[in-house]
Formats: sequence, structure tokens, C-alpha cells
Amino acid sequence: MSSKILIIGACGQIGTELTTKLREIHGVNNVIASDINTRKLDLVNAGPFVILDAKNFNAIKDCCINNNIDTVYLMAALLSATGEKYPMEAWDLNMNSLFHVLNLAKGGQIKKVFWPSSIAVFGPTTPSLNTPQHTICEPTTVYGITKQVGERWCEYYYNKYGVDVRSIRYPGIISYKAMPGGGTTDYAVEIYHQAIKEGKYTSFLSKNTNLPMMFMDDAIKATTDIMAAPAKNISIRSSYNLAAISFTPEEIANSIKAEIPEFNISYKPDFRQAIADSWPASIDDSVARNDWNWSHEFDLKTMTAEMLTQLRKKYNG
Ligand code: SER
Repeated sequence: MSSKILIIGACGQIGTELTTKLREIHGVNNVIASDINTRKLDLVNAGPFVILDAKNFNAIKDCCINNNIDTVYLMAALLSATGEKYPMEAWDLNMNSLFHVLNLAKGGQIKKVFWPSSIAVFGPTTPSLNTPQHTICEPTTVYGITKQVGERWCEYYYNKYGVDVRSIRYPGIISYKAMPGGGTTDYAVEIYHQAIKEGKYTSFLSKNTNLPMMFMDDAIKATTDIMAAPAKNISIRSSYNLAAISFTPEEIANSIKAEIPEFNISYKPDFRQAIADSWPASIDDSVARNDWNWSHEFDLKTMTAEMLTQLRKKYNG
């Protein structure tokens, strides 16, 4: 029997592409997309869609009952930069939505949960190079705190109640279909758009800020792979380290210049610099690679080629 899936936060950067991929795998009518509004009309019109507030337990529960949902992907969240502007809202959304979904799974209403964590669980005291799976996590952002605490609760619900919850610590995700919203790694998406539109970009991170990143196709593959893996292979029930590439604004700019020689980058760091400085430069994801055969495909060069090709089509027809 095919799985019946609910995606909460389907109109976001990752939710948009995850919805498409899960519909390819499970069938359009077996994947209900939901978000707080209908801001992405192409997604809304592409298959079953409901308006759903991730903070409303009864609404999520009713949606799961009415549609016989067995698996929930909880993609709604306030990210790192927005979270610093609205700390209580970030705490409220990020934590309560997780509790709602975990409690539905504890009650037996749903069988399986995907919940994303982030490199934001790490902080200035974390070893910055090849950050191990098990290490110091003293995050300094509200977003990072919600993800760290969320990880603890995921593991707790697995250990105490047998909830099959699976999670990965996404690095910065780069994609061309939907814009990211309110993250510190957003520069690495904006830069491609501006390269095509303006031929120049002002980075809000300094030129040597090295952060872990990943192309969307790899992030989606990681998400569907971990959910498809046999439960016995999932040794980490908090959240898996996940890595692909690390680069600085200068390095991504150079990869763009290789295709668009006149591209120009300047640097004007803002409050997001302090957030970036608190995160690792590279991640050791060997546990994910061993447990469920994770591997990535895109490096900086192939990602830049794909981003520029797709955005040229978008802006230049
Ligand atoms: N991309 C996220 C952010 O920058 C990290 O998970 O907030």
C-alpha cells in the first residue's frame, strides 16, 4: 500500500521541490501539500493542497484523519536571520509545530515523521572543521536553539514512545525554483539571481566566510533516502550530520566568473555575519554515509552551471 503523505510548509524553499519529488515517487493524490496560505499558485494547482497552520494541533490532526495520512514532513520553520528579529515567534512556530506532529505520532495517528534540523545547532564552541556527528552544540541563535532542542525531543519520542522520526541537519540549500526565506545562507542563492539579472552582487557575508552548502537535488535525495531506509539502519534519532560542499562568497563568485567573466562581487557584512561566524566551515557526515548510504552528486562547479542555466531560462526566456 502506498504511503499517504502530508507536507507542512510545502510552499517554502525545500517544501516546493520535496512535494514534486514525493508526488513522482508516491503518486500525486497520495501527497497532500499544505501551507499557511496559497502563495505559490503553481504548487497549489499541481495536486491536493490544503491551507494549514503548523501551530494548530487540531487542524493538523483533522487533516491527517480526513486524508488517512501516515507520514508527515514538517518543513515549516522560521530560519536563522528572521528568528533573530522575531525570537518568540520562532520559538512558538518551530517548537509547537514539532510537538504537534510528534504527539500525533505518539498517539498512533501517523506512523512516520520527517523533521529537518540544521547546521545552526552548532555554535562558536563547536569544532569548526569536519564537525563530528557527536560534538559540542551551544547555538547562539534562536533558530539554532529550537533545532537543538527539537533534536533532543525527537530522540526522546523515539526512545520513550517508539516514534519513527528521522532528521538531517541541512547545510545551506541552493536552488532555483523557490527562494529561501530568512536564512544566513541565502546569499548563496541570491548571488546567482543577481549575476543573471544585474551582473553584480553585494554579499552580506564577508569574502572568506566558509559555510557548508548543498544543491537542492542532493538535499531532496537525502530526504527521500533517509525516509526510505529500513528503520534498523537509522542509528541516529536526533539528527544526522549531512554535507556536500563548503565554499566562501569569494569562491562562489569565482565559480560564477568562470562563466560570466564580467560578474562583480562586493562585500557589505551585516548582522548575519555573526551568525555565520558561529557555524562550522565543514561537516563530517560519515555516519549518514555509513547508515543509509548517503552520497552527494553536485560540487560547486556543476551546481553553478546548473543554477546559471536554469536562471537564464527563467529571466531571459
Ligand atoms: N539555511 C539555514 C539558515 O541560514 C540554515 O539551516 O538559517
